[in-house]
Amino acid sequence: MEERAQLTVNGETIDLPIITGTHNEKAIDISSLRSKTSHITLDCGFGNTGACTSAITFLDGEKGVLHYRGIPIEELAEKSTFVETAYLLITGELPSQGQLDNFAASFTEHASLHKDMLNFFNGYPITGHPMGLLSAMVCSLSGYHPELLKTDVSGEEIERMGAQLLSKVRTIAAYTYRKSINKPFIPPRDDLKYIPNFLHMMFSAPQKEYTPEPAVVNALQTLLILHADHEQNCSTSTVRLVGSSWANLYACVSAGVCALWGPLHGGANQQVIEMLQEIHAAGGNTQKFIDKAKNPNSHYRLMGFGHRVYKNYDPRAKIIKQRAHQLLEEHGIHDPLLEIAVKLEEAVLKDDYFKKRKLYPNVDFYSGIIYKAIGIPTAMFPVMFAIGRMPGWIAHWKEMKEDPKTRIGRPRQIYTGYAQRDYVPIAQR
Ligand code: ACO
Repeated sequence: MEERAQLTVNGETIDLPIITGTHNEKAIDISSLRSKTSHITLDCGFGNTGACTSAITFLDGEKGVLHYRGIPIEELAEKSTFVETAYLLITGELPSQGQLDNFAASFTEHASLHKDMLNFFNGYPITGHPMGLLSAMVCSLSGYHPELLKTDVSGEEIERMGAQLLSKVRTIAAYTYRKSINKPFIPPRDDLKYIPNFLHMMFSAPQKEYTPEPAVVNALQTLLILHADHEQNCSTSTVRLVGSSWANLYACVSAGVCALWGPLHGGANQQVIEMLQEIHAAGGNTQKFIDKAKNPNSHYRLMGFGHRVYKNYDPRAKIIKQRAHQLLEEHGIHDPLLEIAVKLEEAVLKDDYFKKRKLYPNVDFYSGIIYKAIGIPTAMFPVMFAIGRMPGWIAHWKEMKEDPKTRIGRPRQIYTGYAQRDYVPIAQR
């Protein structure tokens, strides 16, 4: 039997359809609410509002479950590569060998940046945050590749645009880092795969090739896979909202980078390491910081804890924690920040304040320890997140373009300002 919901507004009852997802998740479809009742819904922060249906990622925050296109992330983190996972997210299916080879070949074809674009980097202050540069560069790509401005696209054409974007973003990210340390750009190499090529552009010198340890490539591979999509979070919703006006893929992804930058979202990985460094400098007293976060009069938060949808351990954080330990052990690195992180987590998980609010470590809590061990500077952490999230943004833009039900995103509001009043000339105020 079709499920329905009844809503009574000022004595008048209306009947609304219920939409059911693959895993029996339920939504009351209120799209006829305003025309039937002249009321809207109010849901600040969108905690209860679905903005679309999507077949890309499934997430159960109560159980700590995350699937990309039906495949648990634990399996992808163990067996897949970032490029294969990107293909899966964007096209919906795992590739055959031939499809994967073609996809990877587009990365090689598009790895270099237009020579005029390199001048952009020189105009950016060396102390500027890399996320500002990344966002500007991604948006500017459309100026050098006007074919990317097309918005009436679908299917394989978007897949090709996506591969081009994924490849260019890798080069932009590495050059952003080179710019920040005032060193010459290292061109991409055709013979290297996605992650070794990125590390080569980051860390090689003109006369000295950097060859990463397999453990470093594996750790980065895992991190990028785990960041690849997370359904309707702040940055992905931004990409979809901007895209709903038919803005081009590059403009939308550039907006996504800006949304991700914030410390409550992808900027948290940078903040976590800065917080751990602060705790370390303060003698390792984690309790002092926990108390500060619990103080209702302070706006301070323990970065890397809590999540809008996970009310259980974030499944990504579980894997990243394990990989961080593994990488440091294999390399014989002793990082006091990892010890502080473990101590902080143990204390938080026992604390009633955090237990009551179901605040667990999230994806950003342990990722910085890995980036730091690889030699990536703190300000670049959100950029690493953005590289990882790129396939998700592209997949959502594609899904939205191909869905005939897509309408321009336009939330409403309840106005609480002045009622009508007269203009008063300045001399009489
Ligand atoms: N430290 C201390 N208290 C916290 C924390 C935290 N990290 N997170 C939430 N709380 C408290 C809030 O103060 C609030 O307490 P109250 O009920 O007494 O008012 C309660 O828990 C609920 O918090 P909200 O802010 O309502 O939760 P929301 O879902 O809006 O926010 C968010 C989620 C932004 C992730 C939040 O937990 C946070 O700020 N965490 C720290 C930043 C962070 O790590 N962000 C990365 C998230 S993962 C990602 O985006 C990739």
